[in-house]
Amino acid sequence: MYSTEFLDLPPLLSAAGTVRLPGSKSISNRVLLLAGLSEGTTVIHDLLDSDDTQVMLAALRVLGCRVETIDTETAVGSLSITGLGGRLDVLEAALFLGNAGTAMRPLTAALAMLAATQNGCFELSGVARMHERPIGDLVDALRPLGCRIDYLGQPGFPPLRLLPGNQPLDLSVPIRVRGDVSSQFLTAMLLALPLLTAHQPAVVEIDGELISKPYIEITLNLLSRFGIRVQRDGWQRFVIPSGSRFQSPGTIHVEGDASSASYFIALGAIAATDRPVRIEGVGTDSIQGDLRFIEAARSMGAEVSGGAGWIEVRRGRWPLAAIDLNCNHIPDAAMTLALMALYADGTTRLSHIASWRVKETDRIAAMATELRKLGASVVEGSDFIEITPPAVWKAAAIHTYDDHRMAMCFSLAAFNALTGQASAVPVRILDPKCVGKTFPEYFETFFSVVQTRPEWIPVITIDGPTASGKGTLAGVLSDKLGYHVLDSGVLYRATALAAIDGHVDVADETALANLAASLDLSFKSGQVRQAGVDVTARVRLEDVGLVASKISALPQVRQALLTLQLSFRRLPGLVADGRDMGTVVFPDSQLKIFLTASAQARAQRRFSQLAAAGLSTTLEGLLADLQERDARDQNRAAAPLKPAADALLLDNSTMSIGDSTETLLDAWGRHGPFA
Ligand code: DC
Repeated sequence: MYSTEFLDLPPLLSAAGTVRLPGSKSISNRVLLLAGLSEGTTVIHDLLDSDDTQVMLAALRVLGCRVETIDTETAVGSLSITGLGGRLDVLEAALFLGNAGTAMRPLTAALAMLAATQNGCFELSGVARMHERPIGDLVDALRPLGCRIDYLGQPGFPPLRLLPGNQPLDLSVPIRVRGDVSSQFLTAMLLALPLLTAHQPAVVEIDGELISKPYIEITLNLLSRFGIRVQRDGWQRFVIPSGSRFQSPGTIHVEGDASSASYFIALGAIAATDRPVRIEGVGTDSIQGDLRFIEAARSMGAEVSGGAGWIEVRRGRWPLAAIDLNCNHIPDAAMTLALMALYADGTTRLSHIASWRVKETDRIAAMATELRKLGASVVEGSDFIEITPPAVWKAAAIHTYDDHRMAMCFSLAAFNALTGQASAVPVRILDPKCVGKTFPEYFETFFSVVQTRPEWIPVITIDGPTASGKGTLAGVLSDKLGYHVLDSGVLYRATALAAIDGHVDVADETALANLAASLDLSFKSGQVRQAGVDVTARVRLEDVGLVASKISALPQVRQALLTLQLSFRRLPGLVADGRDMGTVVFPDSQLKIFLTASAQARAQRRFSQLAAAGLSTTLEGLLADLQERDARDQNRAAAPLKPAADALLLDNSTMSIGDSTETLLDAWGRHGPFA
């Protein structure tokens, strides 16, 4: 997951390849609650691991459910949950539910009923935004049953206290639930009522027009897997028959998230001109209503095919067709249509989206504000939005309002080059980690199936003599920007190590170049592996560095490592450090830094590093080595160490890492995509 302050997407040109989607949030949290309330143990496969499911799991643990992770070869990340069987284990608890509506609403209903019937007392709270999301209609539906619920803050909103009842709960009259604000109130009620229906039926009647019906279908479908067959009369009346009680299905699989699929369906419609974008983990057999997004995408021009567990999408027409659509049936996925509208041949109108206003943020307002930053003309109403594509696209920093869907949607704005405008613009996504709510690896997945011109992928080069702090600074910058890192010195060092181990003569240029060309290096979590063997510590040894310095003077060796170095230029960007990054390997890089420090300061740094690693050396010896290496790097004929003509020179002898980082980020502000 990217936990940077912002993530810059360079202009993108095409999409192709296969993605696997994480489990559906809606299904995951419903299944967790159902398993938690059932008798017996439920094994859950492919559960979504995200902020919202963590919140639900933590709540279930507090309530006394046994939760165990199962790691088998076939089922990584599966869970087993032993439920309460309808009996409260813990009578008092305070539960913090973050910003997870899919935890707050059903837990309110279930715990209100359990507290009332079994003398429990629970407090439910969340983050500030959760305390602005309405829950009054659910409370109003529960109180006539005899549930006692207090508002601890604003009436109508969490936090709540659920109290023991004064009399038995009364199911003799139909329970009335409002259906026109959020379907989650009805879902919450339906998921909780089977706690009370062992000996009596429960009837729920809807006030107002029920919105987001497909989510109710998911609820009914999952209830039936847990032994509850709800009878329904249109969308107005739901009956849970007497004798209904939760029974664990034993094992259950969670489908991939259909709302998450919408970004990749849109991606295919916009940019899959050659090969399709293939989505796995959710298919056209899905129980999730958001898959009806496919119809909407088709009407805009997507070419979609699919089967059980898969979907493939290509661009059908270009530009996309503007549409006028009632989005009541796909509230979440409809946000994705707003981004597709940027590539349409006219004004797109999305209506019946009032529920957007009570989601993670006021999504109508947020969408309008951010689309306008890109240059689109937007008209917003209480329950609709109209979008006309930009005449001229503008580079924009997109605020995401702690809303995962805002962040994921706006990644689709990076294809503006496809509209044929004169200059393609980058898109900055602020606070990209908010995707953690449903799809922590969203951007990694996105980057794995999008392509652009290599020269559009930003590169920062940091060259300089040994021990000038290049590696440290490259690491800090790449952390700040979410970019890949290339420590090119490691490639020379790994070649040197292979030469030492293979007893290759350091003067045999051709043999060394062959070694360099056949390196089998991999880099993962700070480790360097050569042919699968961890060589992180060995490549750093001083004698390996010395051999590296010698063989790096050989033109054939340098040439042999060039392709490998170029292959590090991957989305979303690269920070490369070495000697000739700015002069030879990435001469077109947007920011070139030449980092120096006095020989004395560098020797001292290396001395401290080695001492900390428990290796004994002398400062004088290190200084002499370092000067000898400087001389060789600077005086060799092939790619001698020298600043590129347009490099920024930085002597950091007396600067802290923090100061140097500030200076470089500042320079990136002036030279980078958002200059
Ligand atoms: O930066 P370092 O000490 O890890 O580099 C090891 C050797 O590799 C160094 O002596 C010079 C050489 N090198 C090079 O010639 N070109 C690069 N781009 C990186 C390193």
